[in-house]
Amino acid sequence: MAITHDGKTRTSNAKLLSWVDEVAALTQPDHIVWCDGSEEEYDRLCAEMVASGTFVKLNQEKRPNSYLASSHPSDVARVEDRTFICSLNKEDAGPTNNWMPPDEMRAQLKELMAGCMKGRTLYVIPFSMGPIGSPIAQIGIELTDSAYVVVNMKIMTRMGQKVLDTLGSDGFFVPCVHSVGAPLEPGQKDVPWPCQPDIAKKAIVHFPETREIWSYGSGYGGNALLGKKCLALRIASSMARDEGWLAEHMLILGLESPEGQKTYVAAAFPSACGKTNLAMIVPPKGFGNWKALTVGDDIAWIKPTADGTLRAINPEAGFFGVAPGTSYDSNPMAMESCKENSIFTNVVLTDDGDVWWEGMGVAAPAHGIDWTGQDWTPDCGRPGAHPNSRFTAPASQCPTIDPAWEDPAGVPISAFIFGGRLSKTFPLVYQAFDWNHGVFMAATMGSEATAAAIGVTGIRRDPFAMLPFCGYNMASYWGHWVNMGKRTDVKLPMIFRTNWFRKGPDGKFVWPGYGQNMRVLKWIVERVNGKVGAVESSFGLMPRYEDLDLEGLDFSKAQFETITSISRAETINEIEEIKTFFAKFGAQLPPELEKQRQEFGARAEKAPEVWTVAAAA
Ligand code: GTP
Ligand code: SPV
Ligand code: MN
Repeated sequence: MAITHDGKTRTSNAKLLSWVDEVAALTQPDHIVWCDGSEEEYDRLCAEMVASGTFVKLNQEKRPNSYLASSHPSDVARVEDRTFICSLNKEDAGPTNNWMPPDEMRAQLKELMAGCMKGRTLYVIPFSMGPIGSPIAQIGIELTDSAYVVVNMKIMTRMGQKVLDTLGSDGFFVPCVHSVGAPLEPGQKDVPWPCQPDIAKKAIVHFPETREIWSYGSGYGGNALLGKKCLALRIASSMARDEGWLAEHMLILGLESPEGQKTYVAAAFPSACGKTNLAMIVPPKGFGNWKALTVGDDIAWIKPTADGTLRAINPEAGFFGVAPGTSYDSNPMAMESCKENSIFTNVVLTDDGDVWWEGMGVAAPAHGIDWTGQDWTPDCGRPGAHPNSRFTAPASQCPTIDPAWEDPAGVPISAFIFGGRLSKTFPLVYQAFDWNHGVFMAATMGSEATAAAIGVTGIRRDPFAMLPFCGYNMASYWGHWVNMGKRTDVKLPMIFRTNWFRKGPDGKFVWPGYGQNMRVLKWIVERVNGKVGAVESSFGLMPRYEDLDLEGLDFSKAQFETITSISRAETINEIEEIKTFFAKFGAQLPPELEKQRQEFGARAEKAPEVWTVAAAA
């Protein structure tokens, strides 16, 4: 069957035109549509998805211009077991990535993708990660058979004709091919969420050397919106290594003191461990004269500039945030951001046409339709929203968006913060003694499992929160960070670690978290500006109880001790576990990190059985 075309030639880029033809010949869609990124196109695709049952249009009064999609039950999160880095040499992918020889993978993809778009439309999505034309931005083109992907990409990236205009006739772009892997026979009725239900057949594939992305079988989030984790982290981290910059799983936050001094920090926490929350923090009562402004909530691209500062941009234009637990109490700015013009995936549909999720801070509806499409009542024994349900919302709708969030030059970063979800051993906050110690702290980060990835359980090391996102050998990535520290032309930010998740003997979080994290941020900013003291522990430099501004918060010295005390036995155990972890990387491990581990061991040996801030101060 001849492929019909929307008839518009939107680019003179010969490479792009021939690649689209090539992919269409392989995947055999019925139609090809070049996306222009207009509102009219967005509305038309949403209306088509309402008609086909993929989308429910929400109540126009309660949630203007917004939609709900419910995924297939197999397709609710990233599939790490089926994510591949296909570098030429296995060693370049390293021990933490799945690898297959590129030729073998290409042969498999050819087989999977042959005719995979039959009965569907192939959409050409030109997108820019970063403000169009910024020296830090990159152009990608995603070819997809999912209209859901098109409308999400419209919110998450700068998308459409203006990107093609910037690309020009011979500009560079990252080619990204995506198919849900569900061809339609003539006359066959489509399902609301087409995908390849067999997880073993899904494949999210990266060829770092040729900077290519191929994704098959999933329509969800990081598996399908290829600008996000695939381009902006896996491929970009590989580019960043080659070109001397950083592509990180980090939020970017601006903190303005009452004196008007602005300090930008970038923070890496593993998936579903609090980046969106911290990025949109609202300072608590008593911090009335402090301002917190959001630049980004998930990804940062950071480049050294001529004056030695590291400048960061948010390559995204929207938030793909975790819904459960998001409320006007925990994250009011996220609630404001998804008030309208948003897409919700896998939350509860209420009888009045709005959305609801666990921890939304409003009473559960007496009845609704849950994410699996079944009738749901609060006492039915099942959660209504999937734990990894998400909202897609334009960043411009965030009331605290920083005035500089689209500055093509980026914002200057003064501190890096790393953190995990750890119920014991790790103190609330500590500062690295120096750059290499900070790299060690980030490289050995661990976290308890969350719902953001399928099949992950227990505690795992998640170096730099990049374990699932590093596009090359993790140990070489650490080496890249160590090398950044050797550069004499770069002003190095200070490095900190935080842990909001330490639990008390009753099994509950001791630190109130969320907006109260501003108290820890204030200490960090004051450390950066040399205004506050610290005591030395085996982990690093820590605030005394008096160093934290706890005014207006009922938080006792005893509680502070519960989340800052350090057990020598637990520390020594941790250092032994790091040894086992480091052994996986063999000769690739930068010697600077093993040196840090040994110094940590020596400090721990000298520490008392239970170290406390009060006793040390
Ligand atoms: P990705 O989008 O998956 O990369 O995740 P993220 O890091 O942006 O995670 P997010 O901010 O959405 O946090 C998800 C979970 O962490 C939710 O369950 C929150 O309730 C919880 N959380 C965030 N901040 C805090 C905190 O300060 N304390 C506690 N106890 N929980 C928090
Ligand atoms: C994450 O898992 O870190 C996310 C969500 O930000 S996804 O886009 O699905 O990767
Ligand atoms: Mn993320």
